[in-house]
Amino acid sequence: MNDEQLIKVAIEARELSYSPYSNFKVGAAVLCKDGRVFKGANIENASYPLCMCGERNAIYHALMENEAKEDIIALAIVADTPSVVSPCGACRQVIHELLNKNTRIVLANLHGDIKITNPDELLPFAFQEGDLKR
Ligand code: THU
Repeated sequence: MNDEQLIKVAIEARELSYSPYSNFKVGAAVLCKDGRVFKGANIENASYPLCMCGERNAIYHALMENEAKEDIIALAIVADTPSVVSPCGACRQVIHELLNKNTRIVLANLHGDIKITNPDELLPFAFQEGDLKR
């Protein structure tokens, strides 16, 4: 599956967004080595801090279907933004920890703009497991 096809799945996922508070729909799709693709969308709540981002839902979806970090090839994220969507800080932290450093991160919008990046570029100097050691 190429980037454009993965973005198309993320756009489909975006339609499943539950975002009555922000009216900002985010869709995401994770592509794995075995060809499986897992969707995610942002899911909000009247108790605002409980809102969950689309890309995190897609990553958790893949992990819950038994995919290993090493087997995740790409993550596409789409929103209706003027330029490509910029993942929030919390998602960058999760992407950095749960995806491998070679994972292709495909940022897109509904106008055909695409930017390819990776976990280290999204979150340089990340807080990680080793930092917990004293
Ligand atoms: N959102 C995402 O799903 N991903 C991001 O990286 C940025 C923000 C969602 C959270 C909330 O439901 C809405 O977009 C507005 O912040």
